[in-house]
Amino acid sequence: MKLIDNLKQRRTYYNLNKTLPVSKSEVKTVIEEITELIPDAFNMKSARVLVVMDKKQNELWDRIFDTFEGKVPREKIDGFKAAAGTILYFYDEEVVRALQEKFPTYADNFPVWANQANGMLQINIWTGLKELGIGANLQHYNPVIDRLVQEMFEIPKSWKLIAQMPFGGIVTEPDPKEKENIADRVRFV
Ligand SMILES: Cc1cc2nc3c(=O)[nH]c(=O)nc-3n(C[C@H](O)[C@H](O)[C@H](O)COP(=O)(O)O)c2cc1C
Repeated sequence: MKLIDNLKQRRTYYNLNKTLPVSKSEVKTVIEEITELIPDAFNMKSARVLVVMDKKQNELWDRIFDTFEGKVPREKIDGFKAAAGTILYFYDEEVVRALQEKFPTYADNFPVWANQANGMLQINIWTGLKELGIGANLQHYNPVIDRLVQEMFEIPKSWKLIAQMPFGGIVTEPDPKEKENIADRVRFV
């Protein structure tokens, strides 16, 4: 099954470089297509994606390091900086708010659904990039870096940062995973 094969190939790749095996436009197409295909509650299209590359990529991770004022190891941040780019995932709180007003019965659910749809987007882009031979990992320096990201990219205030995904050429493969007894977590009745 192609889906299962592709999911098997997706792993957390920490050791990345700036040499992509495909063109930037192929990366752009995959990210755009996946974003368009991923479902959302009430079809609200809450997800926002900002792909940071080149000089901005280096600047982003230098400024993330500075924002933490020495509380995160330089080597760790340099690992992410070494990647070709970083995908910043957001959802638009304005979209969520509008739906909350329209459907007050479900008001509490909309931010949860926006997060769920964002997770769906993340796993699919993560897997789609690997299909192109690109490695990625998933980071969460939000909310500490929220203001920095707002200032650096002048994005709307309503874009709530959810995750950061450094991606790039694969330098080393992760260790193989242990096979789990999946019947502990999946039951058929
Ligand atoms: C919702 C979510 C949050 C995660 N947050 C982080 C994170 O902040 N930093 C990190 O290094 N990895 C993070 N990961 C990666 C997981 O640790 C990793 O996917 C898991 O250990 C399984 O390894 P694999 O991705 O190689 O299959 C996250 C993964 C998910 C799904």
